[in-house]
Amino acid sequence: MPKRDYTAVMEKLSEAYAKHSPRSAALNREAGKFMVDGGSHAVRLMEPFPPRIATARGGWMTDEDGHQILDFWQGHWANILGHNPAVITSALSQAFAEGFGLQTGFTDRLQIETAEILCRQTSHEQVRFTTSGSLATMYAIMLARAFTGRELVLKVGGGWHGAQLWGLKGVHFGAAGFEGLDSAGIPQSATDEVLITRYNDPDFLRDQFRHHGDGIACFILEPCMGAGGGMPATKAYLQAARELTHQHGSILIFDEIICGFRYRAGDVGSLVGVRPDLATFAKVIGGGMPIAAVAGRADILGIAGHAGGSRVGFSGGTFSAHPACMLAAKVMMSHLVEHEAEIYPKLADLGDKARRMVEKSFAEEGIYAQSSGYGNDALPPSSLVRVHFPYSAGHPITRPEDALNPAVCDVELSDKVLRVAMLLENVNVMFGLGSISAAHTEADLALVAEAIHRTARRLKPAFAASRS
Ligand SMILES: Cc1ncc(COP(=O)(O)O)c(C=O)c1O
Repeated sequence: MPKRDYTAVMEKLSEAYAKHSPRSAALNREAGKFMVDGGSHAVRLMEPFPPRIATARGGWMTDEDGHQILDFWQGHWANILGHNPAVITSALSQAFAEGFGLQTGFTDRLQIETAEILCRQTSHEQVRFTTSGSLATMYAIMLARAFTGRELVLKVGGGWHGAQLWGLKGVHFGAAGFEGLDSAGIPQSATDEVLITRYNDPDFLRDQFRHHGDGIACFILEPCMGAGGGMPATKAYLQAARELTHQHGSILIFDEIICGFRYRAGDVGSLVGVRPDLATFAKVIGGGMPIAAVAGRADILGIAGHAGGSRVGFSGGTFSAHPACMLAAKVMMSHLVEHEAEIYPKLADLGDKARRMVEKSFAEEGIYAQSSGYGNDALPPSSLVRVHFPYSAGHPITRPEDALNPAVCDVELSDKVLRVAMLLENVNVMFGLGSISAAHTEADLALVAEAIHRTARRLKPAFAASRS
């Protein structure tokens, strides 16, 4: 199947978008003078330029041009209640008014309360907080390497665990599949220490443990892939991961930075009945504030503490356990626990409705789309909806090797073209659609369906040319 050529379509879309958003265009020119590429996070800096957002509430946001935009990016999938939920903003405003929130650098009662909720809801023994998911996965890997005295880190091809030395290999699909490095500037030793495995392939995993098992310090994976394509792990795969790490004395790390508190008010390991040795959390638990955590076995975390000789330098940072973040996290997790029975079934239902709506709307325009995030034997339906455009129908996308491979799926359409095309409809999508929050409604999904129909018609020239 020939690759579709979007050059002409992108030119037209970019021209229309520049007219649609002149104020954002001007602000982006200004931004480019002071920041690399005009921003500080590559995913936000779309072509031809991102909308500059002024305010946001619930499922919607307003840009500097005054458009009301229906948003499915939702804070890098962190905002499970939508933007600026009143339950968090009112707690923070009240705290600031009472002189609490920016007095960093101390220990306080709130840290205990927040840690207690996280440990209780995830059934982990202990936790240590940090400020970003990248730091959390880095510390978890350092703990595993020090605890086992081994060097090898096994990760899934297509898995994103943040910008840290053991995470920047095997993220993007390239000429050598997932064997490439994702950044310059990494020590060669770190890259040699990272082995790449295949998601949802227990046989391949067994092979790797047979060959390298005695050198593997840890296996880090997401129970549901985020950046790698949005598909859940199968129960058999998670069980194999547990059995093999156990047999070979390796540490099993679940990166729950996306899926923690996304499927239930707690971890997903408990849903599947597979207990990792360590787990990382961030995004949802922070209520929109920067917080992350490494949770797990006390004997492993303990090697960062006095009793363990402070062997691992997980000693914290200036803003670790920041009081305003701890407050937001405590309030958010408590809210999710209290409203678990109403929030999560609604999210799963809207997620499935969104998946089917996207597939149907594109199909009605003659475009084959496949959504990921449907439930399987391990996980219930997800509220994260990723959309793939496989070149051939009937082949379920269950692995990053397919989802991110431009020869199998039209990734230019899902990751680039659709973004600008849907912004012309005042809908902000990421990787096809994105994150359904508790603030979204069925009426919002109906708006998206209409937007997809109009968008698909704008894309038709690229499809027609690829057929001729
Ligand atoms: C699964 C996963 N792990 C780790 C990270 C890194 O977290 P952060 O962006 O907070 O550094 C991310 C971020 O998107 C993620 O999705």
